Amino acid sequence: RWDADNIIADSISRVREQVGSDHVLLGLSGGVDSSVVAALLHQAIGRQLTCVFVDHGLLRQGEGDQVMETFARHMGVRVIRVNAEERFLEALKGEEAPERKRKIIGRLFVEVFEEESAKLQGIHWLAQGTIYPDVIESAGAGIKMPDGTVRAGKAQMIKSHHNVGGLPENMKLKLLEPLRELFKDEVRRIGVELGLPREMVYRHPFPGPGLGVRILGEVTKRYADLLRKADAIYIEELRRHDLYDRSSQAFAVFLPVRSVAVMGDGRRYEYVIALRSVETIDFMTARWSRLPYEFLERVASRIINEVDGISRVTYDISSKPPATIEWE
Ligand code: XMP
Repeated sequence: RWDADNIIADSISRVREQVGSDHVLLGLSGGVDSSVVAALLHQAIGRQLTCVFVDHGLLRQGEGDQVMETFARHMGVRVIRVNAEERFLEALKGEEAPERKRKIIGRLFVEVFEEESAKLQGIHWLAQGTIYPDVIESAGAGIKMPDGTVRAGKAQMIKSHHNVGGLPENMKLKLLEPLRELFKDEVRRIGVELGLPREMVYRHPFPGPGLGVRILGEVTKRYADLLRKADAIYIEELRRHDLYDRSSQAFAVFLPVRSVAVMGDGRRYEYVIALRSVETIDFMTARWSRLPYEFLERVASRIINEVDGISRVTYDISSKPPATIEWE
């Protein structure tokens, strides 16, 4: 019988056996998989674990602080947070093409991670939140999407950590992947068992490039701030109305077009937010969520009233295929 306690005890003794008194490095992203690895390794080897959290400034509202709160403050995990927002924004300046934005973010992410890791001494292992579906899907080269583009899979990140410069030559890292045999729902159950907040463990998937692909076209700090506020209102209302867990993925998208609004004594031209929510099993096809009109009305009115700079909210009723879940 599958039992979270058994799996945890098993993994812990396996990790201890593998690493002995060595030190382990983990890239923490705030996502479910790396979070569960952090919690597991912390129990297994405590201070022999060092996490590097690259904050690219394209996370959801309060997410970076929440990662630090959960791991560093509550659990006592050693976490180095790198605030790289300015570097990412600088690198993205003027760039409008979605796949190029993805490449820039992916490459810089690895670069910053490696720079930070190179400062550490005596690391022998690199831990990764690889789970079983990653092993099958990404067989080394990244995930091939139906439209032919290749998304960086975890295996690709691993490869670059191993091959690209940054880490000193003598720091050849061995790979530690304690979740390699587990499915997502098993990872989640283990996460809860290890004491991670339910809200973190059952959060909707979030793309690696983050808000970088939810701001259409050029990414700026102002757009990201507006989007974060609108998205936080949407998610808060979904939770409050018990709709969050019925959606497979829900988020706001920032549209850099201006639409007219009559406010007080004049006409203003302000930005537009699109709300998306889908239901899906495998994320390859998806149906838009039939959210209640009253709910949508409340979210729209809160966003328009509370987010200065947004004057119009739309709801996306496109299914996949052909429309992808993300807008870029
Ligand atoms: P699409 O938009 O292709 O999304 O229908 C399917 C699922 O993949 C996620 N997604 C990404 N995840 N890096 C990621 O790690 C990416 O570049 C990326 N693009 C899309 C998306 O959020 C959805 O869950």
